[in-house]
Amino acid sequence: MALPPGFLEELRARTPLPALIGRRVRLARSGRQWKGCCPFHGEKTPSFYVYDDHYHCFGCGAHGDAISYVMQAEGQSFIEAVRGLAGEAGLAVPEEGPDEAANARAARDSLAVLERATESFERRLWLPEGAGARAYLARRGVSEATARRFRLGFAPGRGALTADLARDGITPAAMIEAGLLRPAEDGQPSREFFTGRLIFPIGDRRGRIVSFGGRRLDDSQTSAPKYLNGPETAVFSKRRTLYNLDRAAPASRAGGEILVVEGYMDVIALDQAGFPGALAPLGTALGIEHLETLWQASPVPLLCFDGDEAGARAALRAISLALPLITPERSLEIVPLPPGEDPDSLLGRAGAAGFRTEALARRQPLLDALYALTRAQFPGATPESRSGFFDALMAAAESIGHRSLQWEYRRALRDRFFAEFRTPSAPRGRRAGAGMRPTRGAGFGAHGAATAPPLRAAPRPGDQQRERVLLAILLHHPALMLDVEEALCSLTLSPALARLREAMLAWAHRAARAEKLGQEQAFILPEALDSAALIDHLAEIGLGEQVGEARAAAQSFAAPGAPLAEVAEGWWHFFGFSHRERLAEELAAVQREFAAAPNLRLQRRLLALREAQNRLNAGENDLLDGERAGDGATP
Ligand code: UTP
Ligand code: MN
Repeated sequence: MALPPGFLEELRARTPLPALIGRRVRLARSGRQWKGCCPFHGEKTPSFYVYDDHYHCFGCGAHGDAISYVMQAEGQSFIEAVRGLAGEAGLAVPEEGPDEAANARAARDSLAVLERATESFERRLWLPEGAGARAYLARRGVSEATARRFRLGFAPGRGALTADLARDGITPAAMIEAGLLRPAEDGQPSREFFTGRLIFPIGDRRGRIVSFGGRRLDDSQTSAPKYLNGPETAVFSKRRTLYNLDRAAPASRAGGEILVVEGYMDVIALDQAGFPGALAPLGTALGIEHLETLWQASPVPLLCFDGDEAGARAALRAISLALPLITPERSLEIVPLPPGEDPDSLLGRAGAAGFRTEALARRQPLLDALYALTRAQFPGATPESRSGFFDALMAAAESIGHRSLQWEYRRALRDRFFAEFRTPSAPRGRRAGAGMRPTRGAGFGAHGAATAPPLRAAPRPGDQQRERVLLAILLHHPALMLDVEEALCSLTLSPALARLREAMLAWAHRAARAEKLGQEQAFILPEALDSAALIDHLAEIGLGEQVGEARAAAQSFAAPGAPLAEVAEGWWHFFGFSHRERLAEELAAVQREFAAAPNLRLQRRLLALREAQNRLNAGENDLLDGERAGDGATP
């Protein structure tokens, strides 16, 4: 049985997908979407994403909407799933829908109606009654050739279109179907959609006109909306349509760039200036379907939003939508515009050459744009603001579905963050300036302060024994990880151990967020970060060997079950043997932080660091040397 497309659309819109799926699958927020373990294949780490209107599993490829979810999850037929969901949404299922052939015929009819309408609008633009609209185009710098290329038109309204179409035997009912007439209601007769507007015909990917945008000609008439877009119909869905796709996609295949802009006029101005790859969404934000369409046209489309706050918001929104979907083969780049400009105004002021130098040449890779746009959201210089910034960066990285790309982003974002906020090391551990954590320098692994007892200075080349132990302690006490994160990241690791570290940190951030723990609580409630779960997870993603290696190296002194305070102290002590100066820096930094804003977590960190320092100063043995002397098992 075929259902009218409008009904299914309505059903989907009325069925919140995260709530539906959340009944069976534990979902956690991940940016704007939700994430959980895929119900369609056995997995322990979440790669199943739920968006407002669809779900996607990066593990097994399961993909669909509310209806296909119910079909897959409950083994129901299409119509069973629809009936069940409609019942819950309070919608009556239409008993007798037109059959599919009739639907297709209706769509074909609408396309024919829309083509006739385009011709009517076009013709009227060039008649005397179109003089006002032509003058408007001239004022906006649109040439006649450009106007004809885009099939621009003029809608006088007040029955003109209805009369034109009637001559072709097109009825008002067919015009309503095609989205050209507002249906009669409350005693009002049906009215034409566009009155006194410049018309932008909107093509589908094959260039068939599926709807129109209409711009008012008089900007002093602010009571009328500046742009009107046709309603959703059987042939027009805003979510799926991009203005100018039919011309931009071939241009991109011919080697040009795909450039996403905000408005009709931006597309047209760019085309006229020699950039035929421009396209725009239709008064809606860029959505998932748009991104998929863009990636069909180009592996790295450029997003070029207006140079204002709304444009920055739109860019960040598009980026967070894209992150779960990017791969090494498909990404985005961001073209920033000078403040206050849109592409149309920039072209008007500086021409095509100006657009190249002031906009295109400044394009940013996705990572850079993500960092910069997120940075702008946390302008404060307080620890809260910086820590919010860091968390936002890590959350963004975490939302990337492609696993190794996620690691790359996490590493790159973290490096950039620490590079920005770490003040450079002054000699002898004395520091200048202040940052969020005004600690750390490039000097790790160097000789300690003058008072330090003689120590093995730097890790021996190729010797990763200490690093393995440090990792093993964290494998058994993951709650410590977020506390020692920066020191952990300062370790120089072999590629295999570096991968292990990345995966461990990724897991810890995810776990802490899933439990909605702040860093402070993560330390206080260590059971939330469960060692067995971490080790399972690492084995599952293929790092079992590295885990085994680290645990073997650690032997007795990384035993699970010890009190966390003791473990923290032990970790820093052990770290301090080869990184004494950094330990001192960390201690000084935490002391300062604690003095400025004491809290329980800082107090515990301080105690652990002080105790580790004391033990080093007292010349306590390096356990690793003991091990070596004892069993000679290390290479
Ligand atoms: P803008 O207001 O940025 O458009 O809206 P613009 O292209 O700079 O407008 P001009 O230059 O003044 O003509 C961008 C897009 O948002 C949608 C339209 O698709 C427009 O192209 N929009 C805007 C609407 O749908 N309705 C509106 O009232 C305004
Ligand atoms: Mn504009």
